[in-house]
Amino acid sequence: MAIEQLLILIKPDGVKKSLTGNILTKLSEARMVIIGAKAVKVSKELAEQHYYHLKDKPFFGELVDYIQGKVYGEPWDRVLAFVYQGEDAIARMRKIAGATNPEEADPISIRGAYGRITTKGVYENVVHCSSDPKEAEREIKLWFKPEEIVNKIYPTKEVTV
Ligand code: TYD
Repeated sequence: MAIEQLLILIKPDGVKKSLTGNILTKLSEARMVIIGAKAVKVSKELAEQHYYHLKDKPFFGELVDYIQGKVYGEPWDRVLAFVYQGEDAIARMRKIAGATNPEEADPISIRGAYGRITTKGVYENVVHCSSDPKEAEREIKLWFKPEEIVNKIYPTKEVTV
């Protein structure tokens, strides 16, 4: 099994609902290590780059507002960003996060337990979780400076957790 890194975001709805502790507890069941962590006020540019693959979707504008926490405003307009590292980390963390649509997600996953669909049809699904190793590398470089990561991550190296 490969050692992987990935980006996890606790989105503004997770921050506002005071779910940070619950989410980190659920993620900790995977016994991985956190190698980067910070609070981020998300600029429009960062939001658009993060979700570039959805730029042609009708909900793109609302999605960008959502990840920026625009609907919540001060002091909830921020995300908590983490880089996790562990064996087979992406698939295992995505399982704990649950399906994209919170109504279809396993009820004991993070998104199934805490997510909802807004009246505008946006999936407020509490967390972001990188989808594959290439995306994970792109997203980590987008959200974190190299000096903000405590491990040398490219190329990957073994860790004992
Ligand atoms: P996507 O990258 O497809 O899924 P995931 O976050 O599971 O990797 O979508 C990004 C976000 O866009 C998703 O977390 C919630 C939102 N979204 C919607 O609001 N409606 C949709 O129909 C889809 C596909 C995504």
